[in-house]
Amino acid sequence: MTIEIETIYQDRDETKADIIKHVVDQLGEKTKQDQCDQPLWVLGYGSLIFKPPPHAKYRIKGYIHGFIRRFWQSSSDHRGTPESPGRVVTLVTLEDVVKNSRFHSDALEYELSSKSIHEASEKDLKIWGCIYYIPAEFAREVGDYLDVREQDGYSIHTVNFNMVLSEDQSGDVELLDAIAHLDKNAIGHPMINSMVYIGTVSNESFVGPEDLQETASIIASSVGPSGPNIEYLLELEASLDDFKQQDRYIKELSQRVRAILDSEPRV
Ligand code: SIN
Repeated sequence: MTIEIETIYQDRDETKADIIKHVVDQLGEKTKQDQCDQPLWVLGYGSLIFKPPPHAKYRIKGYIHGFIRRFWQSSSDHRGTPESPGRVVTLVTLEDVVKNSRFHSDALEYELSSKSIHEASEKDLKIWGCIYYIPAEFAREVGDYLDVREQDGYSIHTVNFNMVLSEDQSGDVELLDAIAHLDKNAIGHPMINSMVYIGTVSNESFVGPEDLQETASIIASSVGPSGPNIEYLLELEASLDDFKQQDRYIKELSQRVRAILDSEPRV
């Protein structure tokens, strides 16, 4: 199995310490008396791709398997308001997709095309994103920052991330040293168990499958304390373009939102 996701804990304070310890274990550190004094690896697949956490020393692109990425998380604190919630991305596991027939048509349309849902394997689902390396001295501060930023339904999990180093990174001796002990996948990409924030299908803000045009019109009109919802979508699209990685669902949604804005009378 190439991907693994597990909820480490329910209580947020405990979670952070446990997760940090868990991620530290991947780093092969010998001393772990104070797990909050260890470096942290955090995955970004949504806003974290284009709005990094503070103190990130490295940003490495790469991918995970076994999930679909959807704008199925409602946002009343960042890209919308309680009266008019916007939409932000979350990840849905293959297991949840298979279990819930209401997710099937969506996964078949964007990811699985000719495959049947029950033949699908985690390898058939690939999400591009990036991972951040937070040096030990900032791990606690960044953990606290993320806990505030990623509220409204997100919880902490771990996921197996496959790193694709840029040309510059492939020559960075310090980085190569930090990841030298990691196992590599079948095509030579270093793998690390990373912390990730996910709005699971059981969280209160999970909207679930939504007609794409409906999602587009909510995104086109929503604004929250972090700015217009459309900015979140288009920044995510641009980041994936920068990575030279297509996400058909994100592309189609962006096109629909642009079409809505183009059709609106200019004032
Ligand atoms: C992430 O970016 O990894 C989490 C979801 C978000 O904050 O948009």
